Amino acid sequence: MMKIRKAVVPVAGLGTRFLPATKAIPKEMLTVVDRPTIQYIVEEIVASGIKEVVLVTASGKSAIEDHFDYSYELEIFLAQKGKLDLLQEVRHISDLIEVVSVRQKEPLGLGHAVKVTEPVVCNEPFVVVLGDDMVDAKVPCVFQMLKVFEEFQQSVVAVQKVPLDEAHRYGIIEGKKVAEGVYKVERLIEKPAPGTSKSDLAIIGRYVLRPEIYGCLHKTLPGVGGEIQLTDALDCLRKEQGLYAYEFKGSRYDAGDKMGYLQATVNYALAHPDLGGKFKEYLKKLVADLDD
Ligand code: G1P
Repeated sequence: MMKIRKAVVPVAGLGTRFLPATKAIPKEMLTVVDRPTIQYIVEEIVASGIKEVVLVTASGKSAIEDHFDYSYELEIFLAQKGKLDLLQEVRHISDLIEVVSVRQKEPLGLGHAVKVTEPVVCNEPFVVVLGDDMVDAKVPCVFQMLKVFEEFQQSVVAVQKVPLDEAHRYGIIEGKKVAEGVYKVERLIEKPAPGTSKSDLAIIGRYVLRPEIYGCLHKTLPGVGGEIQLTDALDCLRKEQGLYAYEFKGSRYDAGDKMGYLQATVNYALAHPDLGGKFKEYLKKLVADLDD
């Protein structure tokens, strides 16, 4: 089986849930503690051994590409001022990955965003990582999934149990457990209407895909919301070659949602090496004051 070298990261979404914050900056550039959310995603990809990132972008998203590029003026300025720590930090971000950008010319859905990467990914397996889903884990989530892919040799989607009354917000899988945390997928439903599935296994934004997904995407018609859904193409892939779902170990935050974003901020602040201790004391005092 060929080593996985590429990660597709769709970043073309308009970020309407965060307006007005996202009127002039991409939602992926919103900060959690001291880094834009997209940097956490890229760090997870790099920690999983992948260096080539295919960004699926749209107009107004160039700040993301700039973030991972050298900033010549800034670097000269920092060098002249002797701010070598900061210089190293900004250089480090650019050196993390090789970026290729592909434009998604129209917002036709997640499946479409993956489909437009075909000319650069071609005929090799790859991962897809969605920026809204931040996963804090001892072993990076993408790495965990690569292990499952190696073992089962078929495409893998990350899943997590969610309360049944929230299932309609996700792609849901039904399947048979075949190993600890691993299911052989028997059915996939994107955003099921309440009562149409008893499964609480929701797809979270991490996928390891065999290249045959592109053939399926070509056959996929618009689904829920009139969009070309990756979940529908995955159902085609399941029928053609089989598909596994993996219940990853770690905490997931929906950074595309205001509440999830706040939870991510608190969690990453508590885990921050310099800020964590002080922030914990602050939260304790805050909670004590709230209880009074
Ligand atoms: C997308 C997928 C969905 C998945 C979700 C995870 O939905 O279509 O299957 O459960 O990401 O975050 P979206 O959040 O873009 O509506």
